[in-house]
Amino acid sequence: MQDQLITNVPPVLEAQQLTRHYSVSQGLFRDKGTVKALNGVSFTLKKASTLAVVGESGCGKSTLARQLTMIEKPSSGRLLIDGVDVATNGGANNPALRRQLQMVFQNPYASLNPRKSIDATLQEPLRINTALTASERRERVDAMLQQVGLRPEFASRYPHMFSGGQRQRVAIARAMMLNPAVVVADEPVSALDVSIQAQILNLFMDLQASFNTSYVFISHNLSVVEHVADEVLVMYLGSAVEYGSKQALFENPLHPYTRVLISATPAIRAQDRKERIRITGELPSPLHPPAGCAFSPRCPFAQSRCHTEAPALRQVEGRLVACHIVGT
Ligand SMILES: Nc1ncnc2c1ncn2[C@@H]1O[C@H](COP(=O)(O)OP(=O)(O)OP(=O)(O)O)[C@@H](O)[C@H]1O
Ligand SMILES: [Mg+2]
Repeated sequence: MQDQLITNVPPVLEAQQLTRHYSVSQGLFRDKGTVKALNGVSFTLKKASTLAVVGESGCGKSTLARQLTMIEKPSSGRLLIDGVDVATNGGANNPALRRQLQMVFQNPYASLNPRKSIDATLQEPLRINTALTASERRERVDAMLQQVGLRPEFASRYPHMFSGGQRQRVAIARAMMLNPAVVVADEPVSALDVSIQAQILNLFMDLQASFNTSYVFISHNLSVVEHVADEVLVMYLGSAVEYGSKQALFENPLHPYTRVLISATPAIRAQDRKERIRITGELPSPLHPPAGCAFSPRCPFAQSRCHTEAPALRQVEGRLVACHIVGT
């Protein structure tokens, strides 16, 4: 979706070493521990482009989403929107900045208030953030309903009268009401029937074309990511292990973990299809991360260095990879 003309435009959103640790009590004696859910993730997001964040359950995707949408304050790191750091400068209290970052959640059943009509749900952001009159708000709601493929008469209805796909359309409409710079979508099609998923993905893409919105699109499903992404960030245990264009990562994945994810998705034709890599074991706990490279206990290529020294992200073949073995 990103075209050549916009490649020189500065990023709308930039994450610099975003980190989120949670203090928890554990065990019989309620010892204090630290869950390192997010460990210094950085990326830049260009206008009207889509960054997909992928990785298995528990790798920190939703934690990242909560930092990006200012639902939580990061433990450290910076989050720049149009060059202004919203993570440390009280951005969460600044409605003008906050409205630039909207979120769409996985479950459209839980994310809509069952007691509010669709009209009330969609008017709410306008009532809080704009000086529009009631009739102007109604007009905006009607226009947005049309944009997301719902009929204007649906405005007076309540969430329980809709299917899952229709509810997700309403949730997307709500996120788009204030024309945000960035929408963070956390597994937005995972709870929907497969037959509906493509329609909702196409809706995301149509809206991006109409409003130039940038997306951070979180998904564990690489077929979905292939459909929507311009760039892909692969996460493992709270850190980025590979980050680059969709084409680079899908056609020639370099990090062993990216190769595992891609070879586990039959619909994607990767160059190294012939060389299938399988891993065993679970994602380690972010309470007790392994020494060295977090992936080393499961990596079929790990060498002794991998178990002691954490690899930094470095440029290899046009993308960033955190692996000692790759490119050597
Ligand atoms: N509030 C919290 N307190 C303590 N630990 C937390 C908290 N929120 C998340 N975690 C832990 O942080 C890690 C990352 O969780 P997160 O929900 O971000 O993963 P995820 O990639 O979104 O997983 P999924 O694909 O299952 O949604 C997990 O180990 C989780 O248990
Ligand atoms: Mg999640």
